Amino acid sequence: MSSFSFRHQHVFVSGGSSGINLGIAKAFARAGAHVVVMSRSADKVAQAAAELEALGAQALGLSADVRDPAAVQAALEQAHARFGPIDVLVSGAAGNFIAPAKDLSPNGFKTVVDIDLNGSFHVLRLAYPMLRKPGASVINISAPQGVNPTMYQVHACAAKAGIDMMTKVLALEWGEDGIRVNSISPGPIGDTEGMRRLAPTADALERAVSTVPLLRMGSTDDVAHMALFLSSELASYVTGAIIPVDGGAA
Ligand code: HXC
Ligand code: NAP
Repeated sequence: MSSFSFRHQHVFVSGGSSGINLGIAKAFARAGAHVVVMSRSADKVAQAAAELEALGAQALGLSADVRDPAAVQAALEQAHARFGPIDVLVSGAAGNFIAPAKDLSPNGFKTVVDIDLNGSFHVLRLAYPMLRKPGASVINISAPQGVNPTMYQVHACAAKAGIDMMTKVLALEWGEDGIRVNSISPGPIGDTEGMRRLAPTADALERAVSTVPLLRMGSTDDVAHMALFLSSELASYVTGAIIPVDGGAA
């Protein structure tokens, strides 16, 4: 239950059809927002939109690949036609897998950078004309790997580091429009595709939890609550920040 109100605000979540990003979409839906989720799979976005509607929100599920600027543009135009200027933009589409750098093909590296970093740039740049000015909150979903060098994650580390720098640069450029741009950097979040890939066995999961001072995995709600706070009036002087939600693990 959220005590924040985003009644009738337009929240657009790229990669919002599952996991952490769907958790964020649901938190905004519970807080009264109209919510758009965009990802590749038409089935996943339709299912996510149905779940958001079941929470009482007006919702739209749009299929687009963030690597395809024309498809992203078309989705943003549909969202704008339905709900008007975007109040909250969450860029969270990502792909990841474990691979030692020496075995990673050029296309493997490129694929993750194209989805996470270049895809986020497409979403943010194309959304810019549709963002509410002043007032919009832009949130990039990063990861501790953007700062912490991590074995077998050269692709994701490079992409997330790029996202964090993009957050800081766009906070500079878009501040004069009254747009705030921040990153949330989640630690290990339970029951997500990301953790299934990074810690695929019970032992690996246990090791991951043991590095967290709060001695538990985070929940998608833990991340969503930070997204609500960052997009609220309470955070009106916060921009260009990389905010960990990681139980102290960073
Ligand atoms: C090595 C791999 C690989 C693997 C794919 N590739 N999986 N290389 N190990 N496990 C290589 C392929 O061989 C290919 O290179 C290239 O990557 C592209 O693969 P495709 O399968 O054609 O890509 P695509 O269909 O576009 O799928 C993208 C994907 C996929 C990232 C590979 O896993 C995906 O769709 N993931 C989305 C869901 C997801 O990953 N969620 C977790 C996000 S969590 P070649 O050379 O053979 O052509 C997350 C955690 C953050 O991001 C924390 C850390 C930063
Ligand atoms: P997830 O459920 O796999 O979420 C990824 C989302 O991105 C899905 O909705 C996916 O839907 C979409 N997506 C992937 N490639 C896309 C593309 N090319 N174009 C458009 N959409 C695309 O994984 P998650 O673990 O919840 O991760 C969500 C975010 O949190 C990511 O940014 C991740 O890096 C970050 N993160 C996760 C953790 C963790 O513990 N899980 C920790 C730190 C950071 P489709 O398949 O339909 O495209």
